[in-house]
Amino acid sequence: MARKETAKKKQPIVRTKPAGARAFSITKAPAPLPPQEATVILPKLPKNAPQLVRGFKDILSDDQKYWEVVRAEVRRMGDEYGFSRIDLPTVEDTSLFVRAVGKESDIVEKEMFSWVDRGDEKLSLRPEATAQIARAYLNHGMLALPQPVRLYYIGPMFRYERPQAGRHRQFHQFGFEVVGEAHPVLDAQLIIIAYNFFKKFGVETSIQINSIGTPESRKVYRTHLVNYYKTQKADLCDDCKQRLTKNPLRLLDCKNEKCQAIKEDAPQIVDFLDDESKNHFVKVLEYLDELGIPYNLNPYLVRGLDYYTKTVFEILPAGVEQKAQSALGGGGRYDNLIGMFSGRPVPAVGFAIGIERAIARMKETNYQPPALYTPEVFVAQLGDAAKRKCLKLFEELRADNIRVASSFSKDDLKNQLSIAAKLGVRYTLIMGQKELSEGTILLRDMDGGMQETIAFNKIAKELKKRLTV
Ligand code: HAM
Repeated sequence: MARKETAKKKQPIVRTKPAGARAFSITKAPAPLPPQEATVILPKLPKNAPQLVRGFKDILSDDQKYWEVVRAEVRRMGDEYGFSRIDLPTVEDTSLFVRAVGKESDIVEKEMFSWVDRGDEKLSLRPEATAQIARAYLNHGMLALPQPVRLYYIGPMFRYERPQAGRHRQFHQFGFEVVGEAHPVLDAQLIIIAYNFFKKFGVETSIQINSIGTPESRKVYRTHLVNYYKTQKADLCDDCKQRLTKNPLRLLDCKNEKCQAIKEDAPQIVDFLDDESKNHFVKVLEYLDELGIPYNLNPYLVRGLDYYTKTVFEILPAGVEQKAQSALGGGGRYDNLIGMFSGRPVPAVGFAIGIERAIARMKETNYQPPALYTPEVFVAQLGDAAKRKCLKLFEELRADNIRVASSFSKDDLKNQLSIAAKLGVRYTLIMGQKELSEGTILLRDMDGGMQETIAFNKIAKELKKRLTV
């Protein structure tokens, strides 16, 4: 973005960056530097310089602390709720998603990155991972394991959607799936996991929940829905006119204002549920009530993937229920998916959260993630011989589990001390010519600036002693 601006204005951008910010290829501005900020100029790039592909993003260093805190929480929840991690490939046979997600779903119809490889295989980048869970469960004989099998994953997904805020062509999800049990308590526990994830970061959510029953009850409902919408056909948007014949349940998902108004009087799926689905749904809600988890019954929530049965849910940021592209996550039961592949019924339930959307919301709510690394000791050096000695000392301190930092390419002491101060270390070790020849090193307490001379071979021990206080 900044590069484009540069091209438009035909002059370099001058941008300020905190002093001591590292790992940035920059040219210093000619103007004198204010004490707390360095001014940098981003040079204008040639027209043919490489660019990001539309819809794809770099995750820069400043954002990594958010990603790390999300990953850590996912791992923690995985452990605590008894899930094992599974890593699935990014490429699968296209047919896996066509069969699982549905030939007429938006994902399969419009959003897959698919190609035919040199061996004539039809392959796709994965748009989601639930289909892969089903495949992996069968491929690895997980049927023979004690049931249910609880798995979680985290990784990139790919959908060829129109990029906009909160919508990317490569995005990341983490997901939790429970395979091999039909009990409604599992639906409730998964919703609790998703809810707790956001609660941990102070993000308020609204859980939308519905039951879409069994395929049989849905068939009856679909007929009633189509009959109703046929009477409104003239006022539907073009997409919905197509959905009417292709995928009528998706009529309820349309964000077009006119279609939303038509939806208000549409028949509701809850009125068509079979007894088993109804009882299952009531149980799920009872468990949620028991734990005081707030939810909104949303009779129009159908989700866009064909494999769902019974419970479906979405996690929206609180207060923006109606906005498109706002869902933080979604999930539901898919009792027939694995059976469709294996011929043997294997009920399952799960959800996935979009990590980019979750992080965007964490930022909006001013959640401050902890720093990724907080060094305690900075190693500063003056002169080539001291640099060599300190390079070795740095490795020794690291091996001793002391959190160190350095800036060995810098020769100027003032510069190194200011980096040390920025990093917030408790101590800086300083070695110059004098210390080198005396076999000592200076230990500077950064809180107050007191300096002591310590014998070089005692420094690790001395630091350990002081850092534990
Ligand atoms: P989904 O609703 O398609 O469900 O996606 C889950 C979440 O992924 C969304 O709520 C959203 O946060 C995020 N997401 C989806 N598309 C994009 C995009 N283009 N850009 C950014 N974020 C996006 C599933 O994928 C199901 N596999 C969930 C599931 C697991 N159901 C049962 N188990």
